[in-house]
Amino acid sequence: MVVALVPAAGHGERFGSTTPKQFLPLNGVPVLIRTLQRLCQLPDIAAVVVAVPAAWLEFSRQLCQQYGFGSTVRLVIGGEERQDSVARALQTEEVSEAEFVVIHDAVRPFAPAELFQRVLQAARQHGAAVPGLPPTETVKETTPEGFVRQTLPRERLRLIQTPQAFRRELLQRAYDAALQHHLRATDDAALVEALGHPVAIIEGVPENLKITHPLDWALAELLAHIEEQR
Ligand code: C5P
Repeated sequence: MVVALVPAAGHGERFGSTTPKQFLPLNGVPVLIRTLQRLCQLPDIAAVVVAVPAAWLEFSRQLCQQYGFGSTVRLVIGGEERQDSVARALQTEEVSEAEFVVIHDAVRPFAPAELFQRVLQAARQHGAAVPGLPPTETVKETTPEGFVRQTLPRERLRLIQTPQAFRRELLQRAYDAALQHHLRATDDAALVEALGHPVAIIEGVPENLKITHPLDWALAELLAHIEEQR
């Protein structure tokens, strides 16, 4: 059994809107709802747990009801950082019964079903799997003074996306260890890596856009428009 966790408790500081971007309507349908519509169509997913900001809990409840997710989606209050939001979602009863957990950012509404299937398949095989894409630009490590420390070999680098999939027991062990050793990470796989467990990388998809900056919104509108014409 697979449970999906959706961190949706960010405040979107980089986006510059008072409404967090996951709640903004994208061509009429809120970003979070678009993400949930994708997830809930997958045959493998038994339950979905969504972490939202405390101030948006009631709004989220109403939104889920309006779009017919009232009984399928479990809402929890998120935390200070993404990692804290996932940690809270991990504590729910739904998760305790799962064999696998797939974590997907609310702000990536265009992840195709086949990506979820591939990442889950790799997690069944290796315990942990993430999608990644090679960077298209040259990546350099910097010094605190604003100079180049070194140029990194692009062929070996990957920009990591969600969905990320894990054996539930492994992910829970990673989160427990992170709590114990005060580890902070920007994705879930990093905490599994810290345990020394291998994480498989599968091919990501370019249209799996993470809506972060205002410019991403224009691209998201275009992608949503193309999708609706199919
Ligand atoms: O902040 P970042 O770009 O890593 O956000 C990725 C996802 O994590 C977003 O969907 C955002 O809503 C979520 N998040 C969260 N709790 C936070 C911060 C971010 O659930 N405290």
